[in-house]
Amino acid sequence: MKLPFAESYRIKMVEPLHRSTLPERRQWIEEAHYNLFNLKSEQVYIDLLTDSGTGAMSQLQWAEMMLGDESYAGASSYFKLKNAINEITGFPFFLPTHQGRAAENVLFSSLIKEGDLIPGNAHFDTTKGHIEFRKAEAVDCTIDQAYDINLDAPFKGNIDLKKLEQVYSTHSVEKIPCVIITVTCNTAGGQPVSMQNIREVSTLSKKYGVRVVFDAARFAENAYFIKTREAGYQDTSIREIVREMFSYGDAMTMSSKKDAIVNMGGFIGFRDKELFEQSSVFNIMFEGFVTYGGMSGRDMNALAQGLYEGTEYDFLETRIGQVAYLGGLLREAGIPVQYPFGGHAIFVDANSFLPHVPREEFKAQTLAVELYLEGGIRGVEIGAILADRDPITRENRYPALELLRLAIPRRTYTNNHMNYVAAALINVWERRNTIRRGYRIVKEAPILRHFTVTLEKISE
Ligand code: F0G
Repeated sequence: MKLPFAESYRIKMVEPLHRSTLPERRQWIEEAHYNLFNLKSEQVYIDLLTDSGTGAMSQLQWAEMMLGDESYAGASSYFKLKNAINEITGFPFFLPTHQGRAAENVLFSSLIKEGDLIPGNAHFDTTKGHIEFRKAEAVDCTIDQAYDINLDAPFKGNIDLKKLEQVYSTHSVEKIPCVIITVTCNTAGGQPVSMQNIREVSTLSKKYGVRVVFDAARFAENAYFIKTREAGYQDTSIREIVREMFSYGDAMTMSSKKDAIVNMGGFIGFRDKELFEQSSVFNIMFEGFVTYGGMSGRDMNALAQGLYEGTEYDFLETRIGQVAYLGGLLREAGIPVQYPFGGHAIFVDANSFLPHVPREEFKAQTLAVELYLEGGIRGVEIGAILADRDPITRENRYPALELLRLAIPRRTYTNNHMNYVAAALINVWERRNTIRRGYRIVKEAPILRHFTVTLEKISE
């Protein structure tokens, strides 16, 4: 018999979870103004809001916490992290930051100016926010197949080279400081980018003299998909794949809260000393001195260790296998989910799940609230609320996909939790035709509104 798949770790420390009743959840979600970010964590039974900073650290990471060197300058923890980043990514220079968006803030302060264009594959919202904040424009060049959620293609996070060349050839390259390759592409459903695509984007960008920057939050998951899906990489190790991926880039921003399995942290990797030095000034201004930049020594130690653990094949197989397990349960029940499954989350297609709810009433948000009411599960809307308003016209932007994201924290929940999530969503699926109205916005921030938006239920 072929031996079944099982976790590559066992559990040594546990944290209690609290279940709740439907009347309690009704009251809590109303008090939260139907924004799941406003819920208290104890009002949530299974928290799939994000896979960011929510993973369980290993015994070695906790041991590393005790060895942290908290010197202001030149701490040994800094050099430990520098070595790990250099070994894993190949980037010779780096700056620590407190998280991914801080890395964006620092790097973009030296790269991006008003009027610039930054092409890429469906930029993440903070990335786009930092671009638009500088009065520059993020141009989405993702392949069209990414928006067909049922199309079985292995690399739906790829950049469309024709779209990219169109941007390069119709604008002065002085206005294009970089292209951003997001691996995996969170906004398009956690879909990976192939090595071939990365290579081709790099060749094309070199031809035009445009820098390649990776938004690398889930680089190891991307490498796992290259290993398991792309011809020629089956016998290449995850670490070798990672090194090759980054060899095509000039810089990377990293939210370490994802694939480096820490609760807080980030960094920027650079190939070019000049850009590193220029960015160091902004790092000191926004984050902290260049040898700690927003992180304590113990956190840098845990991050260094996490980079090694996050790039182990067995860990990635466990992690991505669990995401696929949940996806499989939902798909078997006929629920429309992005397929093939992404690396860190299952994305439920709210457009086909809730056809009766008008687009203007936020379908994916409506589904997120229903799932919370059903089982105390917290997912997140990746749809029109997240997409913000157009910065010029101030009209709502309606993305092609309205998704409910169920992001799975690393090494945190068991497959029994996944069974529970699937059962709750199947219950909502069975009563989907009774859900006809959604929500209207009462109050919103001018940018990144989804974190703080308040909503009101529209009654029949
Ligand atoms: N880039 C990507 C692709 C991300 O998914 C995130 C965060 C960031 C950058 C920003 O990093 O949170 O450390 O500042 N994504 C989280 C999520 C918040 O839930 O997907 P950060």
